[in-house]
Order: sequence, then C-alpha cells, then structure tokens
Amino acid sequence: MSMHELFATRASRMKASEIRELLKLLDQPGIISFAGGIPDPELFPADGFSEAFQAALGPEQQAQALQYSVSEGYVPLREWLVGHMREIGVECGLDNILITSGSQQALDYLGKLYLSPGDTALVGWPTYLGALSAFNAYEPRFDRLSINGNRGAAEYKAAAGAGAVKFAYLSPDFANPTGETVDLRGREALLDLADDLNCALIEDGAYQALRYDGDAIPPILALELARKGSIEDCRTIYCGSFSKTLSPGLRVGWVVAPKPVISQLVLMKQAADLHSATINQMAIDQVARACFDTHIPMVRRAYSARRDAMLQALQEHMPEGVQWTKPEGGMFIWVTLPVGMDGADLLASALETVKIAFVPGKAFFPDGTGANTIRLSFSNSDEDAIREGVRRLGEVLRG
Ligand SMILES: Cc1ncc(COP(=O)(O)O)c(C=O)c1O
Repeated sequence: MSMHELFATRASRMKASEIRELLKLLDQPGIISFAGGIPDPELFPADGFSEAFQAALGPEQQAQALQYSVSEGYVPLREWLVGHMREIGVECGLDNILITSGSQQALDYLGKLYLSPGDTALVGWPTYLGALSAFNAYEPRFDRLSINGNRGAAEYKAAAGAGAVKFAYLSPDFANPTGETVDLRGREALLDLADDLNCALIEDGAYQALRYDGDAIPPILALELARKGSIEDCRTIYCGSFSKTLSPGLRVGWVVAPKPVISQLVLMKQAADLHSATINQMAIDQVARACFDTHIPMVRRAYSARRDAMLQALQEHMPEGVQWTKPEGGMFIWVTLPVGMDGADLLASALETVKIAFVPGKAFFPDGTGANTIRLSFSNSDEDAIREGVRRLGEVLRG
C-alpha cells in the first residue's frame, strides 16, 4: 500500500513547483538573485526588536509573553492597528481585527471559509502564487478577474456553472508578481462587480506601505466604507502584513472585516493554531509604536533607489521586443519576453551561463500560460548587483 492512496483528493492539487529545484542552485557563490520577493535583512529594525524581546522577557511581561493568549490577537497591537487602518482611510473597531500568522494564514482561512469544491475564485492572471496555493487546497475553479469591466457579472456567473463565485482576490498596490497598481476607477469598478456578483472581495495589502512615488490611492475597503458608511456593511476583507515593513520571520499579519467574518475566522484560528505567537505580537507592537513612522520612509528610500537602478539597467540592456512594468512601489518588475521565448528555459541557461536567477512567470498563472514572462525582484540586491545582474540578463537574452 502506498501512503499516497490515503491522502484526501485535495492533496493531489498541491504540487511542488519545478522551479524550486532550479532555485536550489541559488546557494552557489557568485549568483545574483532577483528571485525571492523578500525584504533586505539589513533593513530590519533589529535593535528595536532586540529591546522589545528583552522587555517582553523581563519580569513585568514574561508571564504574558510566554503564556497562551486569545485567538483574536494581542489587544495593544489590535489597538495600534485600529489607528493604522484609520490613517489609511479605514475606520474600524477592535472587533473588526484578527491577528494572523502572516497574511498567508489569512488567505488560507479565507479559502477555507468561502470555497466549497467547485466554487469560483476570481484572481488576477497572473496573481500571487501563495494565494493560488492557499485557495487551491479548497478545490475551487479559478476564473480571470478583469479589472476594468470588460466582463460583467452575468458572464462570470454563467462560467461558474454549478458552483458560485465566492470572492475576487487581488493585491491592488504594487502587486506580486507584476508590480502594477489598480487605479481609482478600477477599484470602484471592482466594488460594482462584487456588488453585482454578491461576492466578497479580498484585498491583499501586503505591499501597501511601500509606495515610492505617485499619489496614494485609498484601499478598496476605504472606498467601500465611503459608499456604505459602516464596515459591517462592507464585503471587502483587508489582509495586512508586517512582513514587508518590519519582519517576515515573526509571522504577524492581520485581517480587517465585518464582525461576523472575524468571529468565523477566530473559530478557524482556534482549530488551526489557537493564536499567533504572543511574544512576536508583543514585539511587533512595541516596534510599530516606537518606529513604524520613521522606519518605513527609510525602507522606501532604499527600495526606491533599487527600483530606479533596475529600471535604468533594463532600459540600457534589454534587447528589442522585451517589455517591462514600471512599478510605483513594492518589490517587483514584471518582464514580458518576445512570444515564443520561455522564462523557465531562460532561467536554466541564465543560472548556468551568467549566474543570475529570477522566477519564470508561468507559475503565477492559474492555467499555466504566461511562459514568456519572468518576475524580477529588486528588494534584496544592492544597486551595483542590480546593474550587473540586469547586464548579464541582457547578455543571455541576446544569446
Ligand atoms: C501579495 C502577497 N500577499 C501575501 C504574502 C504573504 O506574506 P506574509 O504571510 O509574510 O504576510 C506575500 C508574500 O510574499 C505576498 O507577496
């Protein structure tokens, strides 16, 4: 008997990606990697965390820091988040906030909460791979979310067949993988579509704080609040994260939603992990209070210079026929190669011949299209490495 025969049907949908094998080569010396969408560890507020953990383990706080705690999350951190959400235009109360172990956990719970097998999740084409993996376990069908309304609710409903369209998921600011931002009109059109479909809207704000230029656009949840007056009447569920701003390793994120949604998510959290690590929430709370407002501008300055270096290098070194996005924030530039080229083949030869890495774009498409795309991350290399890496990419593209 093979143990595989015992696995639930959903397990067959969870596949390790082939590119992971290739990316294992990243440990080799001399590789310049634009692959991982990860923050630069030099930018972690490490001293702040060191003080915060010492305080949490000191005589006054240790009993609480090392103890079980409530599933909703550490109250002072949720209070800080009420203020933070207000600053970005979202008026909500403590009971509208759940702390999660990273926003990835929120995506998993939302898949679990909304998707029965055969239901439809509307997602970008391409979209964040981690969202596809999280939702996929709940056996949905994926349909392509068109933002500026060339597909109406009736068309989506007809395509959904026997299942229902349960939610649309997107990251409206500097999306992973494209770096693109949805403009105000697009956000309003999405709210209209969600109303017409009577579905939820999952707004992934993972990169929201990382804007380098251009004017901030209100979160979709803020726009819906302006329409409906109370968060309790909203269908947008906002997922936030401290991973891209303070530290991904502590695994602290949050969800903002109407109370009945939060209550249901709390039950899921109780079943899954009881609560996110108390001491990590306490440390994030202390560091956010002490330095969020001064730390984020510093992070923005560093990534903005790297984005500029990458855009300039692409301009200099990309051959004719290659196009790329010009993100106003975040960590990614999305490159479209001439039709017929394959990003995975390019990665294999780029690793071997010029020692650079990136992520082939295909993995971000639910239907496996997009072979001629690649994602470049500029967040974790300095400007010199970016210029040299893009020069080498140009070299391998010219063949
Ligand atoms: C768009 C997006 N959402 C969510 C996440 C998950 O982040 P975390 O679970 O660390 O909050 C990521 C991580 O890369 C991401 O790019």
